[in-house]
Amino acid sequence: MDRIVIQGGEPLRGDVSISGAKNSVLPMMAAALLTDEELVISRVPSLRDVSTQCKILEALGARVLHDDQKGVLRLRSDNEDLVTAPYDLVKTMRASICVLGPLLARRGRAKVSLPGGCVIGVRPIDLHLKGLQSLGASIEVRGGYIEAETDGLRGTTIYLGSAAGSTVLGTANVLMAAVLADGRTVIENAAHEPELVDLCHCLQKMGAKIDGVGSHCLEVEGVDKLSGAEHTVIADRIEAGTFLLAGAMIGDGLSVLDVVPQHLLAVLEVLRESGANLQVEGNRISVEPPDRPRPMDLTTLPHPGFPTDLQAQAMAYLCRGNGVSMISERIYPDRFIHVAELLRMGAQIRKEGATAIVNGVPRLSGAPVMASELRGSAALVLAGLVAEGETEVHRVYHIDRGYERIDEKLRLLGAHIERVAG
Ligand code: EPZ
Repeated sequence: MDRIVIQGGEPLRGDVSISGAKNSVLPMMAAALLTDEELVISRVPSLRDVSTQCKILEALGARVLHDDQKGVLRLRSDNEDLVTAPYDLVKTMRASICVLGPLLARRGRAKVSLPGGCVIGVRPIDLHLKGLQSLGASIEVRGGYIEAETDGLRGTTIYLGSAAGSTVLGTANVLMAAVLADGRTVIENAAHEPELVDLCHCLQKMGAKIDGVGSHCLEVEGVDKLSGAEHTVIADRIEAGTFLLAGAMIGDGLSVLDVVPQHLLAVLEVLRESGANLQVEGNRISVEPPDRPRPMDLTTLPHPGFPTDLQAQAMAYLCRGNGVSMISERIYPDRFIHVAELLRMGAQIRKEGATAIVNGVPRLSGAPVMASELRGSAALVLAGLVAEGETEVHRVYHIDRGYERIDEKLRLLGAHIERVAG
């Protein structure tokens, strides 16, 4: 298993171009199942999760042409006999659950493995199933699989709410079923994360009739058929936020390019409040670090609040704060697996329920640490960049799920970082 080895303390300088958004691409790929014409997606990042979603689509009879160099995916789903998304693939990536809605809408049946456990906590899919049942699907769980069928989906009004607010992939799944349902569907409490908005734009290009895009209420007028389309995905705001936090930790003139600053407002606010200097010009954001970050209270929330997918990285940043910060996790109360590893690097963090109390220390020290999930792994890399001495991040396959060539991008910015195979 590869590991990343970092000699901390090297300042990061220069420009880094941000890749296409993983969380846009994955559900969008499932939209290819809604038509027998070709869906072409550009600015596709080269990631393990994208390869996994390709395999799932192939298992469902789709033809997949992936030009990894150019970042272009050509998907055509004209063999509609297959309806099973197998456990071996689904267990490695929960976003694969998004094939359920399109399969039901177009093929009338689906057999999709339940995703299973996840280190960031319990991640139920009850809202996905509730929404699809409201549209007229009958669903049973048997042998670890969701078995769903319908003799025709019919539009209706659906409220999609959990204790944590809206659901991103749940909204995507129900939306992709509703676009081919008979009549009008209203999805109340819909997610409006930028990635979901991006999916709506792609579906509109395919001929879907969706009103209220970007709001909490999506109104969908079902159509008989969708066509192929070409779509370029938005910039990955989580990758951008990760690099901005790195710049606020140990930058010396670091800029992220090709981003949508509007998608990053909560993150920029946190950086400013902590004393970082920011400059936003068009689709470029530059950051200069504070001496030590001012401590703060930070709570993760659905968009436009601070994203849970940057909580771990923000914690790595505030570990060197000039006082006590409180980080509360409202989306995934158990998403704190990185805390124990940050402690190994000299951080002072106490966890109380879904809150981490971070007592800032002047310096972190390099150590061997273990990555256990995607965003937590990125936090360990950030901590390694600023720590004194050597940090070895083991099991970096987690990071490869969602960051395109992160070690290479950091090396180009001046970090002493290398990937060691084996
Ligand atoms: C998406 O997951 C992202 N994944 C996650 O990113 C991200 O952390 C999450 O949204 C929140 O922003 C992709 O887009 C591929 P949710 P999703 O349904 O849609 C509860 C990453 O690191 N809930 O919006 O699965 C749930 O437990 C990943 O890139 C239910 O109760 O998340 C959580 O508390 C990790 N029942 C809340 O809703 C349901 O049926 C929000 O989860 C569904 C969700």
